Amino acid sequence: MTTSPTIAITGASGQLGQRIIEALLAKVPASRLVATARTPSKLQDLAAKGVEVREADYDRPETLASAFAGVDTLLLISASEIGKRVPQHLAVIEAAKAAGIKLLAYTSLLHADTSPLSLAEEHRQTEAAIKASGLPYVILRNGWYAENYLGSVPVALQHGAFLGSAVEGRISWANRDDFAEAAAAVLTSETDQAGRIYELAGDEAYTLSELAAEVARQTGKAIVYNDMPENAYKDVLLGVGLPEAVASMIANSDVGASQGALYDDSRQLSELTGRPTISLKDSVAQALKA
Ligand SMILES: NC(=O)c1ccc[n+]([C@@H]2O[C@H](COP(=O)([O-])OP(=O)(O)OC[C@H]3O[C@@H](n4cnc5c(N)ncnc54)[C@H](OP(=O)(O)O)[C@@H]3O)[C@@H](O)[C@H]2O)c1
Repeated sequence: MTTSPTIAITGASGQLGQRIIEALLAKVPASRLVATARTPSKLQDLAAKGVEVREADYDRPETLASAFAGVDTLLLISASEIGKRVPQHLAVIEAAKAAGIKLLAYTSLLHADTSPLSLAEEHRQTEAAIKASGLPYVILRNGWYAENYLGSVPVALQHGAFLGSAVEGRISWANRDDFAEAAAAVLTSETDQAGRIYELAGDEAYTLSELAAEVARQTGKAIVYNDMPENAYKDVLLGVGLPEAVASMIANSDVGASQGALYDDSRQLSELTGRPTISLKDSVAQALKA
């Protein structure tokens, strides 16, 4: 008799992690799931649903062996501190290997192998380390979250403009719910996932001018997109209090978007979920309701 594999995810307290657990709960019994976080107390609601909660802190490798014990499939959700992520991910990969994980999944960046985004380097190094580990792996190269731009809707309404450096670059964004459902589909697939690399992105691509026009249409207000040089945009972001590394990363990512680095038309995401990704119209409507 074969038993159903146990699936664990890291970063389960994060915005994507929470949604992945919810998507997994719709597919498999809670008893097959392990949710890990550096602060397990954040996961009390999942424990109440029957999900096993364990501590896994990338900065404290001593927590990882017990976190991954008995796990078959492990999803490493990329860490959030830019510049610190490679050693953090290496600690997880090493512990996954020691625990005898049968499939290691990793949330990478769209077209990480060729992407000009500064963010891509940590993902490239992580992907290389995963491949070198000899563990069976599947890479989920996630495109841009719609929420990255939708979070700016209130400020855009206040000032009558979205700002950025993406020019007329087309961005195939999808929302976190879309990426979460795709991850859950891969983690529970009955088809062997080892060695697969998915480029995950929205079905349709949009420019920031189109975003501004849709917000204007739905609110009846005059909203435009003002494109700026990278350094000027970075200065705006610093001016609203973002840390240097984050401001640089956002401005640099917009320049990458202007070069098509956040565009993908393969529709692999909706193939995995079996439904279209969120449209521009619905994303904006959701943002306006929030
Ligand atoms: N594709 C995109 O547009 C995009 C945008 C933003 C981020 N990302 C990437 O996607 C990841 C998931 O996105 P998200 O929206 O879920 O981000 P998020 O809400 O910031 O969640 C990040 C998760 O990582 C956990 N974490 C951070 N440092 C950790 C550590 N040392 N040990 C263990 N866990 C740690 C956080 O735990 P705590 O709850 O304890 O803080 C949290 O659960 C991000 O971490 C980032 O790598 C992608």
